[in-house]
Parts: sequence; C-alpha cells; structure tokens
Amino acid sequence: MRFLYVMDPLDHINRFKDTTFAFLRATQALGHESFVCHPRDLFVDRGQCFARVQACEVFDADAHFRLGPAHDTALSETHAVFMRKDPPFDGAYLHASQMLERARGETLLVNDPRGLRDANEKLYALHFAQFTPRTLVTSRPDRIHDFVKEVGGEAVIKPLDGAGGSGVLKLATADKNARSIVDMLTQEGSRLAMVQEYLPRVVEGDKRVLLIEGKLLGAINRIPRGDDLRSNIHVGGRVEPCTLTDREREIVHAIAPRLVADGLFFVGLDLVGEKLTEVNVTSPTGIQELSAHLGRDVAQEVIQWAVDRVHAKRF
Ligand SMILES: Nc1ncnc2c1ncn2[C@@H]1O[C@H](COP(=O)(O)OP(=O)(O)O)[C@@H](O)[C@H]1O
Ligand SMILES: [Mg+2]
Repeated sequence: MRFLYVMDPLDHINRFKDTTFAFLRATQALGHESFVCHPRDLFVDRGQCFARVQACEVFDADAHFRLGPAHDTALSETHAVFMRKDPPFDGAYLHASQMLERARGETLLVNDPRGLRDANEKLYALHFAQFTPRTLVTSRPDRIHDFVKEVGGEAVIKPLDGAGGSGVLKLATADKNARSIVDMLTQEGSRLAMVQEYLPRVVEGDKRVLLIEGKLLGAINRIPRGDDLRSNIHVGGRVEPCTLTDREREIVHAIAPRLVADGLFFVGLDLVGEKLTEVNVTSPTGIQELSAHLGRDVAQEVIQWAVDRVHAKRF
C-alpha cells in the first residue's frame, strides 16, 4: 500500500522519539511504501485533492531518511493519509484540513479532518466534564481569580492552542505574579484561556494513553522534573512504564465511542491523578517510549490497523 504522511520537515525530527518517524519505520517494515509532504504541498485542481510528494525511506542511522524526487499525485492514488503536522492549529493547518476534505471517501484519512477541526485539544476534554478536574474557560481575569479562590487557592492556567507544555503555568492566590500571568494569558481580558483546579498528584506523573480507533494501545507515565509543573517529554519529563487503574480504564471506555464517531482514531489522552486533562489529536506522541516499555513495535499495530481498514474499504 501507499501511505502519505503530511508532516513537518524530516530533518527536524528526532528518530529516537518521534511518533511519525516510528510510523514511517513501521510502514516500511510491513512492506508498504511511504510518501511525505508538508501541508503547503497539498493542492486542489478541479475539485480533486493532490499533493506534491516524495517517496521516503527511513533508517536507524544518523542519516535517518532518504527522499525520492518530488512528483504530483492524487490523494485517491494513496491508500491512507496521516495528517501528522505538529500544532499550532493555525490558518495554514485549517486550510490543509479543508483541502483534505476533497479526498474524503477516496483514501483513509487519519485523523479525520473534520474531527481535527472540531476537537481543540484542550476544549474537547470538556465533552467529558465528569472526568476532568474542575475547569473554567473564560477571557475574564476577575472570573479567573475568583475560580482560583474557589478551588482552594491553586490552579493551572493554559492557552487553548498550546502544546508540549508551552504556556502552562501555575496560579496561586498568594503569588504576586498571578495577576500578571492572568493578564498575559488572556491578553488583558481579550483572549480565552483555560483554568483548571491544580491536581497535586501531578508529581506522580501525567499518563499518556494511546488509542487506535478507541482501543487501548498502551500507556506511559511522564514524571515532571522536580523544578517544573509540566510533565511533557519535550520539557524534560521522565518516562516510566505504567498500567492503568480501573478508574482510568473506565474513563477510556467512556470516551472511546465519541472519539471513533468523530474520526479521531490515533489519539493520546492525558490523565493526571485519574482525571482527564487533555485529548491530543493533531499529532499525539509517545509511541516510541511505549514500544520500548512493551518490547514490541506498537507503531506496527497502528499501520496494520490502517491496512486492515483499507482492505475492509472503511474510509
Ligand atoms: N490541572 C492540572 N494540575 C496539575 N498539573 C497540570 C494540570 N494540567 C496540566 N498540568 C501539567 O502541565 C502539563 C501540560 O499540560 P497539558 O494540559 O497536558 O497541555 P500540553 O501538554 O498541551 O501543553 C501536564 O503534563 C501536567 O504536568
Ligand atoms: Mg499534554
């Protein structure tokens, strides 16, 4: 089969950690062909979606990839398209997702572009408010300061379009920086931000639960550095193997049907202290760390899932 990866430049990715690289490696290991392009390489002509692509081979070596000559192909000539561009979800991302609409029904789209547009990674969790920490989304600084008091004097504030821990800050009523932080994140009350009850169990870690079509692939735990709130691997979180508690499994099972209905197939849930804090759908990561802990290539399970789905003509 031919798989297209819409992604960031390959020379910028870390072959030991990157999940898209693991997908490329797995595609190759299972005997299929990979092509790559950037979002800007998509184009639509007479209503049909094409891309300027390059065949891609990957290697577990310093020179970790080799690209073939660029050529144009209709997305209908590929069997699956993995939209793996990293956030932010900006105008270019939005337009790429709208271009992909012109390939709907012709190739398997992972994740579904409609689902990607619908599911802001922070806000989507609010569909499952019974599983999240207490959360407020507002642009009003006064409302945020009241909220921090209501939840006991400590909270976490996050931009709605951040990723990798970027812009996530702790708020405390006693902190003289708190008012300034809130003004910064809301741009003086003109921009929405998310505030969440502080979960002290974050010091035990933030579990990343990877799912394929609602089914559990596995989970890793990310323990924050002693001097940071944030557990993201990107900012120095340490990865440990983990299993899920009964409560965590209950959360996964409750959320899975909605994810599948929204075409959100490859998803990473973030769970802190058995509470859902985020639903990562744009380019969830963690598969290489999970594979290392489980002693098998979990990326191959994802690629095999795509192959089976294409064979069953479910796209
Ligand atoms: N409610 C919370 N209580 C305590 N720590 C939190 C909370 N929400 C997030 N964090 C910490 O901040 C990190 C980043 O937050 P998250 O919501 O996952 O945003 P992103 O990963 O997109 O930047 C988490 O890994 C966790 O360590
Ligand atoms: Mg996160």
